[in-house]
Amino acid sequence: MKGRGVPPCLLWIAILCALTTVKALGKASVPNISPRKDGIQEEKAKNNNNVLPTDGGPTSKPPDTTPSPSPSPSGPWDNYRLPKSLVPDHYNLTLWPRLTPDANGLYIFTGSSNVEFKCAEETDLILIHSNKLNYTTLENGHLAKLTSVNSGVNAPSIKTSWLQNVTQYLVLQLDGKLIKGHRYHLYTYFTGELADDLGGFYRSEYFEDGVKKVVATTQMQPTDARKAFPCFDEPAMKAIFHITLIHDKGTVALSNGEEKESSIVQVDGKDLLKTAFKPTEKMSTYLLAFIVSDYTFINNTIDGVLIRIFARKPAIDAGQGQYALNKTGPILKFFEEYYNSSYPLPKSDQIALPDFNAGAMENWGLITYRETALLYDEEFSSNSNKERIATIIAHELAHMWFGNLVTLRWWNDLWLNEGFASYVEYLGAAHAEPNWNLTDLIVLSDVHRVFAVDALASSHPLSSKEEDIQKPAQISELFDAISYSKGAAVLRMLSDFLTEDVFTRGLRTYLAEFAFGNAVYTDLWKHLQRAVDLNVPKPPDTVENIMNTWVLQMGFPVVTINTQTGLVSQEHFLLDPDSNVTTESPFNYKWIVPIKWMKTGIIQEPHWLKVKSSTIDATKASGTEWVLANLNVVGYYRVNYDEGNWNRLLNCLMADHKLIPVINRAQLVDDAFNLARAKIVPTVLALNTTKYLNKETEYMPWKSAMNNLDFFYLMFDRSEVYGPMQNYLRKQVTPLFQYYKTMTGNWSNVPDGHMDQYNQVNAISLACRTGLEECQNLAKTWFNQWMDTKTNTIHPNLRSTVYCNAIAAGDAKEWEFAWEEFRDTTIASEAEKLRSALACTNQPWLLNRYLEYTLMPNLIRKQDATSTIVYIANNVAGQSLAWDFVRARWSYIFKEYGGGSFSFSNLINGVTKRFSTEFELQQLKQFKADNSEIGFGSGTLAVDQSIERTMSNIKWITENKQNVLDWFKTEGNAN
Ligand SMILES: *[C@@H]1O[C@H](CO)[C@@H](O)[C@H](O)[C@H]1NC(C)=O
Ligand SMILES: *[C@@H]1O[C@H](CO)[C@@H](O)[C@H](O)[C@H]1NC(C)=O
Ligand SMILES: *[C@@H]1O[C@H](CO)[C@@H](O)[C@H](O)[C@H]1NC(C)=O
Ligand SMILES: [Zn+2]
Repeated sequence: MKGRGVPPCLLWIAILCALTTVKALGKASVPNISPRKDGIQEEKAKNNNNVLPTDGGPTSKPPDTTPSPSPSPSGPWDNYRLPKSLVPDHYNLTLWPRLTPDANGLYIFTGSSNVEFKCAEETDLILIHSNKLNYTTLENGHLAKLTSVNSGVNAPSIKTSWLQNVTQYLVLQLDGKLIKGHRYHLYTYFTGELADDLGGFYRSEYFEDGVKKVVATTQMQPTDARKAFPCFDEPAMKAIFHITLIHDKGTVALSNGEEKESSIVQVDGKDLLKTAFKPTEKMSTYLLAFIVSDYTFINNTIDGVLIRIFARKPAIDAGQGQYALNKTGPILKFFEEYYNSSYPLPKSDQIALPDFNAGAMENWGLITYRETALLYDEEFSSNSNKERIATIIAHELAHMWFGNLVTLRWWNDLWLNEGFASYVEYLGAAHAEPNWNLTDLIVLSDVHRVFAVDALASSHPLSSKEEDIQKPAQISELFDAISYSKGAAVLRMLSDFLTEDVFTRGLRTYLAEFAFGNAVYTDLWKHLQRAVDLNVPKPPDTVENIMNTWVLQMGFPVVTINTQTGLVSQEHFLLDPDSNVTTESPFNYKWIVPIKWMKTGIIQEPHWLKVKSSTIDATKASGTEWVLANLNVVGYYRVNYDEGNWNRLLNCLMADHKLIPVINRAQLVDDAFNLARAKIVPTVLALNTTKYLNKETEYMPWKSAMNNLDFFYLMFDRSEVYGPMQNYLRKQVTPLFQYYKTMTGNWSNVPDGHMDQYNQVNAISLACRTGLEECQNLAKTWFNQWMDTKTNTIHPNLRSTVYCNAIAAGDAKEWEFAWEEFRDTTIASEAEKLRSALACTNQPWLLNRYLEYTLMPNLIRKQDATSTIVYIANNVAGQSLAWDFVRARWSYIFKEYGGGSFSFSNLINGVTKRFSTEFELQQLKQFKADNSEIGFGSGTLAVDQSIERTMSNIKWITENKQNVLDWFKTEGNAN
């Protein structure tokens, strides 16, 4: 799965008005939007007989929602993990989703399943996952029917059956034992709700020509396959699936496999289609997908593999699937070669859904996406939208092998699955877009991003113990920045020090050995080690020993190089040096660190730091010589130097910054700012790294600086530092603004380079944010032209920042105009730009009303609710409004929006980012205490991280405010 995250903040807002605090709105105004769950109409069993498998059809009884009560308060069914006694072989599954509501307004699906399993250990108990499904009692009076496959032997009969809701099982107690080695069939017939909850089998809605359309679709990962049908819902319980979907004529049914046959069946005198799919490969339940829609598609074939892009008809007609179609083939071919393994399936479908919680999901053969992650529109999409599509497609296609063909045995190893895909997505996308320098961007998007969380005392190691990850909420919590971005960062480091050639050789034999099976992360290390052993030179220790220091302990080191003494040392880097690390480390926070470095522009022999500190004479420097370590930031660590070397590096930046590689210019800024946060270097040193920026035109250093200055905005945009800071930054960005003005012929062309296009956006957004009048007028003029002429001539790359600045400068008129455009547009990426820009207004009443809208799914889709609240909190005028809102509605938000994997940690981190006062800290602690009963789900860790962050912000402001104010005053006036 690829998370949606909250997009990096391209939206800058300059708001000088006094803050108005508005009281949190009362709970009474929560809209009543929950789907009706009451009064379900009884199924007419007769209808179902016609369309469902003949193998033990349902009796005429309605779904029995009150099965026999649990006979025993405790038993194996209280354990979240399945016993090892039964092993599924294949499922025959038929599902019929209803795309229109029943008489009670409820959308439902019905289904029947027959699973063949083998008994591996004698038992008289069957546990199979099932969540929120109602079962029809069968002729034996129970929720399921058991038969034996072995001839001449009868299966024991079911003694009692019930639903164990907490651990999500259908429980069957038998009156005799299942025999080891024998095979059995378990038949069930069930009903579920096709809710709009983005999990399991769910529904997505959209309007086309004023007509409401419904799509039935799925999101199983991690534990929601059990919400669609009873199954052994663990990744190691691989099986073959024979899937059949019942659907209306005129709709398209899709699943993992190829369509086998489609025939007409009659129900209640009405013709329906029954589409059967060819059996899948042996696979995990979390990778299943079933979709019924009236979508259309475009396709092509590459080396016998059918590639199709599905989307809403108008989107396909407008050509929005074309980019994805063009890039999928090359990316697929790239991975076939990279893995040395042909694509394991006959087809690759990709489909864009209006409602989708994550960014995309790698269902085997049928990948699901948010619309913005798959659909590209020449006229509306920016280059960043395009890049996101290429990288997400690459991420998901990478999973077709790594994750799907070979699956990690249990969720505790999720980091390897997601970290790997998050690393190679850059390789796949760079293959498809070779001129973009995409692989460099992992440093900003993953390495720097995760440094921020992994430097907290409340971080956690990449690897978790299997026994610590049991409940669905614990599994969901693993889908975080550590698993994705740190996983990607350490694998990139590993691939770099092994060399890509050795890395891929080990990877290939790993995939070959475990194809269609399961592995643990150390299996990959074993294969890499075998590849290493055939090769010279070797790293100073085994792959496992080196990687253990990165995988089994949280955090990362700061490597300090003293160029006077030659002493090189390492230390656990903590953003807050006073924070209390309570997590023990098996390595005592020492790492085996590969160090690539240069001296005054010349690359030196790499060094391995295996101890706390050692002397390397070569790192001594004198005169104007400087030392620069962690070249291209391939290592997962920060670097500090003695003051003399820092000064020589700063001088080099001022004199001839191009002597330092561009990624390292971005790193010097990021390291300095973070070392200052940790009180390792003075804050003034960090600010000094921005002085050369008036000569810098490259994207990465600017972006790195802006990301770091964002913290200064968060800490100071409510204080007297704000004015002088604005003056200084305006002065620094003006040359960049003029540079792009010239390059684009007074903003009439688009820069050629991908990175230049990005940096043009930086130039405009920072210039406007810091109040450069020329920039603000530009934004206002463009936006007004659009309002006046109803023709939008703003280039898609610039839209986010232009909309935001115009809405911030304007009032209700601009806001309402943008809101109407948001409501009208059928282009998801355009809607996305408008949705975030709407949060830029500085009118509290508009912001409060917008907050209300976030909980009305007919206005803001559920998938977008939390990110919209976070956008509002990013705005200094919206910060306290968003926080009050989240506090007041927590239980409601938790209940209605609890399904997602990412939403809660983003929400909590997002609304508390600016927290830097005692008062805010108390509020946060109170919030934690008040809601301890409701809980925070996947946001549990985020609450503690926010408390830690707030405490360190408070200290930071106390210690730095005066210095920073003085520095900005001096530098803002200097020439
Ligand atoms: C599980 O939930 C169902 C439906 O809500 C209910 O009928 C059943 O009694 C519950 N089972 C147990 C063991 O509580
Ligand atoms: C599933 O269907 C296949 C093909 O029709 C059949 O051979 C198999 O026995 C069925 N298995 C079960 C569990 O019903
Ligand atoms: C399942 O049963 C429960 C309890 O009777 C009921 O509230 C719910 O609506 C039923 N769901 C479906 C989809 O039939
Ligand atoms: Zn993924």
